[in-house]
Amino acid sequence: MAYETIIVEIEDHVATIKLNRPDAMNALNSHLLGELSEALAEADKNDKVRCIIITGSAKAFAAGADIKEMSEKSYVEMFLSDFFGREGNAITSTRKPIIAAVAGYALGGGCELAMMCDFIIAADNAKFGQPEINLGVMPGLGGTQRLTRFIGKSKAMDMNLTGRFMDAEEAERAGLVSRVVPAKQLMEETRSAAEKIAEKSMISAIACKESVNRAYETTLSEGLLFERRLFHALFATDDQSEGMAAFAEKRTAQFRDR
Ligand code: CAA
Repeated sequence: MAYETIIVEIEDHVATIKLNRPDAMNALNSHLLGELSEALAEADKNDKVRCIIITGSAKAFAAGADIKEMSEKSYVEMFLSDFFGREGNAITSTRKPIIAAVAGYALGGGCELAMMCDFIIAADNAKFGQPEINLGVMPGLGGTQRLTRFIGKSKAMDMNLTGRFMDAEEAERAGLVSRVVPAKQLMEETRSAAEKIAEKSMISAIACKESVNRAYETTLSEGLLFERRLFHALFATDDQSEGMAAFAEKRTAQFRDR
């Protein structure tokens, strides 16, 4: 499928989706988010794909929602179109694991998109922020919700109210990103993580993803029950027998998603 604002490459079970609006710091307009939603749905359906990477350029993962597209919108237009609601849901309903590889600016909707992925690997030049307050608005894709759950109230308030940027080191300390790597090695390190995930049983990987995400939606006791039931259910798979047999036989497991 030919896209105009993203580039999709599939190699060795990993689909890499590169945001590609270089003249606008990868600002997220409706067209790009529509294409991203389609590409994610395609990757989810494609049996060859076992892990997905979303990335941007060396300068910008994405500098936010497209301010030029939004500037003339009225309340009624935003409300009736449920601006970016459908696209946000399309991204977070992707079942396969998604890694955000972030270099440069991840601001506003860009930071929010990275947080919709399953984890973030940051280049040492990455800068995260929710500067919407400087535009007389506020975040609309998770900047007050996911960010607060990830880094806690105090830092989330600081980011949202001052609009300041957080560098990669602070983002790792705060728990927003899983690891920081030298900018030049960002794609290599992210691909290596994606390839590791691609080797696992897709059934276990999807179950892990659903279970971690459930932690954000429910109480501890309900979450633990959900986790335990999924854990039990995995004993109905051939991959459980294979994984445990491979351990006993001191060989690498060959998972077949059954
Ligand atoms: N929307 C539209 N265009 C954008 C953009 C955005 N969010 N961010 C950058 N651009 C465009 C600039 O307008 C500029 O285009 P022109 O050359 O046509 O003028 C081009 O990208 C390069 O940008 P700069 O010249 O500004 O580059 P810089 O290096 O001086 O600064 C920056 C980079 C700090 C990222 C700066 O561009 C910036 O502050 N961008 C806006 C960040 C922002 O406010 N994001 C929040 C958006 S609102 C939102 O996301 C709502 C939500 O939660 C859903």
